[in-house]
Amino acid sequence: MKPLQIGIDGPSGAGKSTMAKILSKRLGIMYLDTGAMYRALALKAIRAGIDTHDREKVSSLLSDTDISIEYENGSQKVILDGEDVSDKIRTDEVSMGASAVSAIPEVRVKLVELQQKIASDNPVVMDGRDIGTHVLPDAQVKIFLTASAKERALRRYREQKKKGILSKSLEELEKEIEIRDYNDSNRAQSPLRQADDAILLDTSNLTIEESAEKILGIVRAKGFSDAL
Ligand code: DC
Repeated sequence: MKPLQIGIDGPSGAGKSTMAKILSKRLGIMYLDTGAMYRALALKAIRAGIDTHDREKVSSLLSDTDISIEYENGSQKVILDGEDVSDKIRTDEVSMGASAVSAIPEVRVKLVELQQKIASDNPVVMDGRDIGTHVLPDAQVKIFLTASAKERALRRYREQKKKGILSKSLEELEKEIEIRDYNDSNRAQSPLRQADDAILLDTSNLTIEESAEKILGIVRAKGFSDAL
């Protein structure tokens, strides 16, 4: 039987990584956060003073960039040219940069290849924007996770406040989320889109536990038990 592949797609801040981490733990399978790879490349471009929209300059970085994923106590570390950048890629500046570099076709070709290689012989839960449509078209479980922009901005606001890194108003965060939604859904290459065979889950009015239970229910209904 083909190893279990779960693809979770959806807009920024819908809770994809939270869900993917829970599934990875409950099912004992690998979690791959594909957005982190786009973020790592964006960080490299920003550090080099390159405009993240500049197709030629960003593409030229690719041949000289090594992005890899390592696991430490079950959690994913993103390694950029030998440096652990897991925390450094979580700023708002890198978020906007990642949205820009991810629209560049050459970038997608290289990172998708890497993602498919990592998933090739391990059961995996992967989150991103094009997992169900492009990276893992044959995944047995495809979820399209969403929530209203207002709710997603509110979640980000609370999270940043809790971490003591809040630097924007709720309205500004909502605006940024809308811009990223627009960019991610309207680019020419693999835009954010629900795969035909993906199950839509709107978490606006669901707690984390309720959302996770719903997805686990879908996994079980496909014939996969919690202990694989
Ligand atoms: O999921 P995230 O916020 O970490 O993703 C950062 C950016 O990368 C996001 O704006 C869209 C892009 N992305 C993508 O185009 N394809 C993916 N599979 C994952 C992320």
